[in-house]
Amino acid sequence: MRPTILFLTLIAPSKATLSPSTDSIIKHSWGDIPRGWTYHSTPPPDDTFELRIGLKQARIDELIDRLLEISDPNHSSYGKHLSQEESEALASCQPKALDETKEWLAYHGIDDSRVNHHQAGGDWLSLQVSIAEAERILSTQYHLFRHDASGETSLRTLQYSLPHHLHSHIDMVAPTTYFSTLRTMRKTSFLQPDIEPVDEVESLIDPIISSAASVIPLGCSYAITPSCLRALYNTTDYVPTAMSQNRLGVAGYLDQYANDADLQTFLKKFRKDAAGATYPTVQIHGGGNDQSIPGIEANLDIQYTIGMSYPTPNIYYSTGGSPPFIQDSTTTTNTNEPYLDWVTYILNQTTIPQVITTSYGDDEQTVPLEYAVRVCNSFAQIGARGTTLLFSSGDFGVGGGDCKTNDGTNQVLFQPSFPASCPWVTTVGGTTKVNPEVGVNFSGGGFSRYFDQPDYQANAVSGYLGGLGTKYAGKFNPGGRAYPDVSAQANRFQVVVGGHTMSVGGTSASSPTVAGIFALLNDYRLSLGLGPLGFVNPLLYSLGRNGSEFSGFNDIVSGSNPGCGTDGFAAARGWDPITGAGTPSFKRLQALVSK
Ligand SMILES: *[C@@H]1O[C@H](CO)[C@@H](O)[C@H](O)[C@H]1NC(C)=O
Ligand SMILES: *[C@@H]1O[C@H](CO)[C@@H](O)[C@H](O)[C@H]1NC(C)=O
Ligand SMILES: *[C@@H]1O[C@H](CO)[C@@H](O)[C@H](O)[C@H]1NC(C)=O
Ligand SMILES: *[C@@H]1O[C@H](CO)[C@@H](O)[C@H](O)[C@H]1NC(C)=O
Ligand SMILES: *[C@@H]1O[C@H](CO)[C@@H](O)[C@H](O)[C@H]1NC(C)=O
Repeated sequence: MRPTILFLTLIAPSKATLSPSTDSIIKHSWGDIPRGWTYHSTPPPDDTFELRIGLKQARIDELIDRLLEISDPNHSSYGKHLSQEESEALASCQPKALDETKEWLAYHGIDDSRVNHHQAGGDWLSLQVSIAEAERILSTQYHLFRHDASGETSLRTLQYSLPHHLHSHIDMVAPTTYFSTLRTMRKTSFLQPDIEPVDEVESLIDPIISSAASVIPLGCSYAITPSCLRALYNTTDYVPTAMSQNRLGVAGYLDQYANDADLQTFLKKFRKDAAGATYPTVQIHGGGNDQSIPGIEANLDIQYTIGMSYPTPNIYYSTGGSPPFIQDSTTTTNTNEPYLDWVTYILNQTTIPQVITTSYGDDEQTVPLEYAVRVCNSFAQIGARGTTLLFSSGDFGVGGGDCKTNDGTNQVLFQPSFPASCPWVTTVGGTTKVNPEVGVNFSGGGFSRYFDQPDYQANAVSGYLGGLGTKYAGKFNPGGRAYPDVSAQANRFQVVVGGHTMSVGGTSASSPTVAGIFALLNDYRLSLGLGPLGFVNPLLYSLGRNGSEFSGFNDIVSGSNPGCGTDGFAAARGWDPITGAGTPSFKRLQALVSK
């Protein structure tokens, strides 16, 4: 065995083994420019930008195991959420990864003094580089690409490489091949101009109809307001008390600003007792707050989170990238990365709101796998800190557009949406109508091709797949993370924008609604001296299970989500990929989460 020592000495890192020209291997590559983008220009090599390097999270399996334990109501650690320090320790890299990555940068003439190291969301190195430097270290070429729909140009590359020995130390480098930006991400709401908005909700609330078990304002089959949702989901007479501890966050992107005056107009019309309610706006990474440009998505989100959860304190996060985009001769600033800026900010806080809702997403296949995994792991970290992260499931059923794959084979497959497909978030689908509610036909739903099906949902999902048989075989990944987890109304929401009431639809409406209800459940738990729900899926899929049904939720058994030239999935008893476990029934959930 003595020769081993000699061998180790021989392969000890030397300049030669670090040279990208001798052992560089592709980290990620697109065959073509992603659909919806075109080549714009090649920037001067001395333009600079911020490059971020995500070091591999050496203990990520342990972090996920801890997340699952503290989220499992049967486990002795249930509810024992992690502190910022504990979660950072579990998200960190091996010391060797840090050393070897810095050696590699030094080899390329990048002095250690230029490299910043921070530890929110795992270990990250960030540095200002010139395009020429980035191209040299990543064996790549950067270009500006134009997003056809928005006109935004972004600095990206079609592929990049890392030395062989760094593939086991680096998860991802940004910006590189993830083409979405804060402005080009899809928001999941749309105006419904054909639906005449209502200004006088009282006229709709009377007369009241009653059915066997509920009293729902009649007007709610025409227009949805907080009164409708509070009646439908049974929160009307709940009085919050834990305002000093409880918070609900709304994550906004896309230069969407929540308008204070519109909120007041909305509350005076639709939730009088909450008139005067305010919320702080936190501006992250250049996020703006221009009160002269009210955003439909932002107003929908904040009006309904406050409309549902008042007087629980709400907070609005405005993340990144103010237009107009300004490019000067030496700095290319349009390198914002959706999620990374926000996640880094949130994980760097000592306390995080116990519920946060986000209404944005993209086709999963447009997000490089390692990028999606890294972001999803950061969401797991937020969950482990005790926060319920809600995402809307998307507005294109089983897939929008032509549903062709982007791997060069052009197969037509159902197109799951990300972050909806991340197993460590709670994904919210859409319903419409009342008495009974039905799955709305645009409700995003399906099965991830990136993430395996977590155990917590396997039983519920196999029940659905058993009923489906071989229908759509090959079009989706039956072993993938299935979504949505739950659902709520998604149509005909009355939203005040620029002083006018409009009808807005989308699973963007569902997610803030569920966020408000979960915030009230947290309020209830906090008032009992219990902790917040945190990552709620393992609880959700086991809570009050009776055969295939979930007694804390109203089972939605009709509706379907067409897309990709098919009729989509059909709702069914128990869990289904249009409405998940169903819509929340607050009173029943309250009883189920009271210990
Ligand atoms: C709301 O809760 C009450 C009990 O407080 C119950 O009688 C009623 O049926 C519930 N309504 C709905 C719509 O679940
Ligand atoms: C995290 O917070 C600390 C203290 O508030 C601050 O100094 C640091 O810059 C923050 N780091 C990041 C990555 O935001
Ligand atoms: C969904 O339902 C709406 C309203 O009923 C209808 O106009 C639309 O065509 C439907 N979409 C699909 C894809 O079936
Ligand atoms: C907890 O235990 C109960 C009873 O054994 C079981 O029905 C439920 O599925 C378990 N929950 C989880 C999350 O494993
Ligand atoms: C479970 O469901 C069955 C059939 O729907 C019902 O008869 C029974 O009362 C339910 N049990 C519980 C504990 O809710």
